[in-house]
Order: sequence, then structure tokens, then C-alpha cells
Amino acid sequence: MTRIVPPLRLGVNIDHVATVRNARGGALPDPVRAAQLACAAGADGITAHLREDRRHIRDADMRRLKDVLLVPLNFEMAATDEMVALALELKPHASCLVPERREERTTEGGLDVIGGGIDLAHKVEALSHAGIRVSLFVAPDEDQIARAADIGAAVIELHTGAWCDFIAAGEHDAAQAEFARLRAAAEQGAKLGLEIHAGHGLDFASAETIAALEPVRELNIGHFLIGEAIFVGLEGAVRQMRAAMARGRAHVGTDKAA
Ligand code: PXP
Repeated sequence: MTRIVPPLRLGVNIDHVATVRNARGGALPDPVRAAQLACAAGADGITAHLREDRRHIRDADMRRLKDVLLVPLNFEMAATDEMVALALELKPHASCLVPERREERTTEGGLDVIGGGIDLAHKVEALSHAGIRVSLFVAPDEDQIARAADIGAAVIELHTGAWCDFIAAGEHDAAQAEFARLRAAAEQGAKLGLEIHAGHGLDFASAETIAALEPVRELNIGHFLIGEAIFVGLEGAVRQMRAAMARGRAHVGTDKAA
């Protein structure tokens, strides 16, 4: 019998197009144009992180993205009153709630869903009630994932940053152990009825590896793709990423599955 493997979506994060734009203060390069190009090259969705300090994406970018995109928009944001109010006004397809600290260069660590208590639960409820799919960006931690399901999140996005850092540092055993945690977390989350996404620090090789985990349904990738676009163009980078994901996905259910 032919095995039906659920598709794996690619969400392209265009934050760092805005980083380059903001370095000069003008309007170029335009992150919305990059988003449209990424979609034409095969992205299934676009992610943008409106940080509290507006260091890359700005409010006007989010509005333009919402207006012009024909694919789902994933509004990545801190779980603050300001951001929840903006999301409720904008009504993106999804909101991915992430921890955010001003001094960090990028999102470090997963959201403390347990520590977020009733306040976080209310924010998840308010967003969900407005028809927004709520995703919680979490480390592969059993208790945090159980709590994410308890408070009604539709999705968890597993933080792959630590795994990618171990790979980059050549720490093979630590990378393998972290990957085992990601796999267990994906399985746990799927059993709890959560949709499983993954992201942070992924490149062609790591995306290919994680694509072989059947419960994972979406990868969100930004920095590497925008960097690679310098060399092969954004279209080429997105196409190569899709090819890497397809190679990995072909291993689902085989003895080559990661
Ligand atoms: N997913 C989440 C929740 C993130 O915070 C980020 C970084 O903004 C990404 C995915 C993409 O990470 P990267 O830019 O390293 O591919």
C-alpha cells in the first residue's frame, strides 16, 4: 500500500530583508517584494517578526504584507498587550508567540508557557477567538508542550536553534541528543493534537534532516535563505530549500528517516 506522507510547508521569514533596508534608512530593499518573490519561488507562507523595538519589520510592513499576500501570513510577536492588540486589528492567518528581550540578537530559547500563566492563556484565547491560529515557539520540553496544549494553542513551533548550534560547533553527540529531543517533542505534540512546526537556524542540510520527521508540517526559515540569496538570488535559495525539504520528506517512514 502506498504511504501518504503529509506535506511539509515552507514559511519564509523576511525579517532580514528589512534589516538590510533599515541599515540605510530608505525604502530598499523592500521586504514585501521579497515576500512576493519567495512565494513565486514556492514558499507556502510568509513569516515576519514585529519586534517591540521595530529593529527590522515595522508596522507598515505588516500591514502591506497582510494586504498583498495571497498566502498565509504568520505574525511572529512577543506576548505583549501591544502586539496582541495589533494582531487582533490585522487578523493575520497565524500568530507565533515568542519570547523577546531587547538585548538579544535573535530569539533565544523557547517561550516559557508554564511561567506565562493565566495571562498567556488569556492571550492565546483572545487571538484564537478572533480566528487567528496561535503557535507557541517552544523548546523541545515535555512540560512546556503539555501546557501549550492545555491552554488551547493550535500549533507549537519547535525551536531548532540549539540543535543547529551544536551542528555548527561540530558537537556531534550533543547534536544527536538534541535531535532526539526534537523528535520526541514532535511526537508528543502531535499526540496532544497540536500541529507541529519547527524553525530557527535551519540551512539546507538541517532542513533536509528535520523534514524526515513525519509530525513536522511546517518549517520557518529566514536568516540562512536571505544570506544565501546574496549568492544565488532569493528565488534560487527558496527553490533549493524546497528541494532539500523534498529529499528529506522522501525518507519519512523509511529506514533512512532521521
Ligand atoms: N521561527 C521563529 C519563531 C523565529 O523566531 C525565527 C527567527 O526570527 C525563525 C523561525 C527563523 O529563524 P532563522 O532566521 O534563523 O531561520
